[in-house]
Amino acid sequence: MLYLRQFLAGRDFALDDDLAVQMRNYAYAIGDRAAGVAVLVDPAYAPGELVELLAADDMRVTGAVLTHYHADHAGGTMAGQDLAGIAELLGVVDVPVHVQSSEQPWVERTSGVGRDHLVAHDPGDEVVVGAVRVELVHTPGHTPGSQCLLVDGTLLTGDTLFLHGCGRTDLPGGDAAALYESLVHRLAALPPSTVVMAGHAYDPSPSAPLGTLVATNPVLFPQSREQWAARFAG
Ligand SMILES: [Fe+2]
Repeated sequence: MLYLRQFLAGRDFALDDDLAVQMRNYAYAIGDRAAGVAVLVDPAYAPGELVELLAADDMRVTGAVLTHYHADHAGGTMAGQDLAGIAELLGVVDVPVHVQSSEQPWVERTSGVGRDHLVAHDPGDEVVVGAVRVELVHTPGHTPGSQCLLVDGTLLTGDTLFLHGCGRTDLPGGDAAALYESLVHRLAALPPSTVVMAGHAYDPSPSAPLGTLVATNPVLFPQSREQWAARFAG
């Protein structure tokens, strides 16, 4: 049976962390309930607390997956502040960290974690957690190796897609044309029943069906690349 949990930084963990409260990042756990194993997705701010929260559920952390390299997801330095992330996670549990191959150099640079701890994946690869298979959907644009995680009809979108709007393309490695392709042609084509869970709590709802977002979130509407870039790039 699928084990899926959504943790809001600053509310469910990292409670006394002002930056976490301000940034409203979600971390996730995806695992196999019966096997008692799970991977953490974007374990920033207080990764040790996430390991403990899973342990309280009798779940053991066997890996991590990063949606992208930014410090509020992977750990590292952001706006002059040092955020805990995968480097600190590896001090608690010795596990592989799964990234898109095109994101690997960015993750190394930002987090300081070397490639011997990173597993570089090609688009469409699966991460297997017990009997649960997680598909890595490469969705470049916010960063070169941004990826969404598709598991049992749920899509974790990181900063590629929020319930309203999408990630920025003006940070290092951002590419508006690539994000247009990822959103309008790749993600909008998934089944409407797909449940979208984003990388930040910018919306009161913790999730929404993709079919609803395709009708309400203009970044997913059918449109030309030029129209899209004129409205959303930056
Ligand atoms: Fe980001």
